[in-house]
Amino acid sequence: MQKKSLRDINVTSKRVLTRVDFNVPMDEEKGIITNENRIIEALPTIKYLLSNNAKIILCSHMGRPKGEPNPKYSLAPVAKRLSELIDKPVKMAPDCIGDATKKIVMGMKDGDVVMLENLRFHEEEEKNVPEFAKELADLGEIYCDDAFGTAHRKHASIVGVTKYLPSVCGFLLDKEIKTLGSILDEPKQPFGVMLGGAKVEDKVALIENIVSKVDRIIIGGGMAATFLKAKGYEVGASLLDTNIEQASYLLDLAKMNKVEVVLPNDVVVTEVGTNEAAIRNVKVDAIPQDMRIVDMGTETIELFKSKLEPLATLFWNGPSGIYEVPAFSTGTREMVKFVSEMKGQTIIGGGSTAEVVTNWGYAPKMSFVSTGGGASLKFLSGEILPGLDALDDME
Ligand code: 3PG
Repeated sequence: MQKKSLRDINVTSKRVLTRVDFNVPMDEEKGIITNENRIIEALPTIKYLLSNNAKIILCSHMGRPKGEPNPKYSLAPVAKRLSELIDKPVKMAPDCIGDATKKIVMGMKDGDVVMLENLRFHEEEEKNVPEFAKELADLGEIYCDDAFGTAHRKHASIVGVTKYLPSVCGFLLDKEIKTLGSILDEPKQPFGVMLGGAKVEDKVALIENIVSKVDRIIIGGGMAATFLKAKGYEVGASLLDTNIEQASYLLDLAKMNKVEVVLPNDVVVTEVGTNEAAIRNVKVDAIPQDMRIVDMGTETIELFKSKLEPLATLFWNGPSGIYEVPAFSTGTREMVKFVSEMKGQTIIGGGSTAEVVTNWGYAPKMSFVSTGGGASLKFLSGEILPGLDALDDME
């Protein structure tokens, strides 16, 4: 069912409670934002509201403060940065509910922007407590959800508030759903996914949902060790997802669907610990017992490139090695660079994959970089996102 969009409602002079995902990575010591992509991506909605003289009440969570106020997770640095980006003051409210915040909001003029303090300073947010949702909703006259990154969460500011206000979809949420939806509905063939990261478990539902649509699944990163083990290789001291049976099941599922699964044929290993000096490139059938996989090997880099090159559509989620350690980041760097030069459509899942692509300067060369990590995986796994589901349907 098509959801109502911001363009389907008159927002002029209205207080628009706008849920954004401004959960951005911060350098805590310096108090600066290290990746502002989520703020940039929310600008089309904010600018539309500004150009229509709405009163914009932005709300978001930041981090996981566990229901307690904690200055470390304040949204004040985000309000400051947003104010620079839109060249307008963004007033920081002391809380997301309460009398002081209500007073600020009720005194807003058309075109004013207020940023509420972190929603998760109240445990009622994640518990979706109706009274809390109602108090939040009372601040607005219209609710707009533009937080794709949290659309998989059933929280008060995402689902609860929609019971009390006309609720519409913002431009970023709409763009994410359309782009990710297009690779489920009509992917240009050949279609491949490249998966990495540590846990197989996180990717099971995704593989189950797309196995009938893809031609190829390329597996790197930490989870490759579990798949190699499932195929009978000894993987030394590599961190293993306990779910080797799940990996075997997914390999069988791919085989039944005639989907090619590409695994590393050589890997970079090191002694247990993070010994950057003691790295070795070995074949997957010769991984020493006391060493663990930290990156893909040189032959695998070329193998993966040859499997990526012909794809007309690629969805990539999960880095290809321990990219945070420079000596183990070669595989991920090579993949990022290669994917950015591909002719086919390149869709990057959010979370750490989006972070490396953005921080290393390759985001503009990708077709699409999602702002949602967990949300993009859930959506592509075929799950109904509560944040989208709760919005008003088009008549
Ligand atoms: C994210 O960073 O994936 C979103 O902001 C959701 O955050 P959460 O996993 O803490 O709910």
